[in-house]
Amino acid sequence: MCGLACGAVLAVAPGAAAERMPTDQAKALQNPVAYAPEAVKAGRNTYLRLCQYCHGADGRAQANPDFEAPSLRDPDEWRYGATDGEIFVSIRDGAGHEMPPFGKQLQDDAVWRIVLFIRSIGPKELRPQTP
Ligand code: HEC
Repeated sequence: MCGLACGAVLAVAPGAAAERMPTDQAKALQNPVAYAPEAVKAGRNTYLRLCQYCHGADGRAQANPDFEAPSLRDPDEWRYGATDGEIFVSIRDGAGHEMPPFGKQLQDDAVWRIVLFIRSIGPKELRPQTP
């Protein structure tokens, strides 16, 4: 394991790929944005702008054969974790070699709204409770 010092070096190295937050820290993150129609809609708009090219407008990722993007409707297929925090980190920091990081162009709240949108198209039992 590389540890904190090594992570810090990688983080400041010019041109280095963004480093992904470790899984245990990612799992501990909680979505600060409530699951509400307006937030889901905002997340969907950002999703359609930035993500549908690879994951498809419906999240099933069947339209673009150039990328082996997983269906975002099916957490059983995912490799980088399916908690809210892990989805957040996959979007912010990227996942694997082909999933680009979006942390530079999106505020954290915008990423969390995309997480809510992904929940809204995923399995019912994983959807957050509406207050
Ligand atoms: C250039 C194509 C591309 C774009 C654009 C893209 N993705 Fe991905 N995404 C991928 C690929 C390919 C993977 C699978 C990476 C792997 O398994 O190594 C992936 C993986 C993911 C994962 C992790 C799934 C897992 O296996 O745990 C999430 C979540 C995700 N993408 C969400 C998004 C969201 C949200 C956006 C828009 C903000 C987005 N992606 C934009 C190609 C893309």
